[in-house]
Amino acid sequence: MKHDPKSPDTSVLPGGPRHVAIIMDGNGRWATQRGRPRLFGHHAGAKRVREVVEACPDFGVEYLTIFAFSTENWKRTQVEVAGLMSLFRRYITKETRSLSEFGVRVRFIGDRVRLDDKLIKMMNDLEQATAHNTRVHLTIALNYGGRDEVARATKRLARDVAEGRLDPDKVDEETLPRYLDTYVLPDPDLVIRTSGEARISNFLLWQSAYAEYEFIDTLWPDFRKDEFGRLCAAYGGRDRRFGAVKT
Ligand code: FPP
Repeated sequence: MKHDPKSPDTSVLPGGPRHVAIIMDGNGRWATQRGRPRLFGHHAGAKRVREVVEACPDFGVEYLTIFAFSTENWKRTQVEVAGLMSLFRRYITKETRSLSEFGVRVRFIGDRVRLDDKLIKMMNDLEQATAHNTRVHLTIALNYGGRDEVARATKRLARDVAEGRLDPDKVDEETLPRYLDTYVLPDPDLVIRTSGEARISNFLLWQSAYAEYEFIDTLWPDFRKDEFGRLCAAYGGRDRRFGAVKT
């Protein structure tokens, strides 16, 4: 997926979302419907990631954040957890080159402490290898939970107060986001959840306070570029008031 920096994208949607966050749900059901093990669905889901990343410039999406593994997903069977970890390692090995060539900057959010050393090294290497890219900012949430992120941020903030680096009277709405894993990212404009569930499952809790939501029935392995485009276009027609009244 090579990118020629001299050829600008021509099909960008006016007023489309700059940052889209996706809860990629439904891999397990997709596999079960086919009489296959759940991991088969996760592998099919991983293939959809590339298609959606590559579609971002066409719809004016600069930031894409995807929920790959939650702090709650450790409760799944050992076979599924190990299979997902192995899939993440394979994904990084297989996709590093094409992500780089397409101009994707990859970041990971979530608590790395519980992940294995080999995977952590691969994540760090991928972040470094793509650090100069600016075309699409892909953030992969891995061992991520919104409450866990806020708790970790609060711990760091409290430490700064205790050690005299931060005045508690100056803590306001702008302060906490600087301690979140997402501190370099804009807030999501549009959050999409596939598979018919209408809940946010601890994803980007602070950051999505004013996001628009789309809950769609499609199972993640069936999610395609055209549907992504329709959702981005529909977002362009929405009236975001951020709590204010239109004058
Ligand atoms: C939810 O479906 C999906 C996950 C917990 C894993 C998401 C992972 C991928 C799409 C794989 C690849 C990602 C990367 C970044 C390579 P589910 O298992 O909860 O589905 P169900 O609700 O139908 O059981």
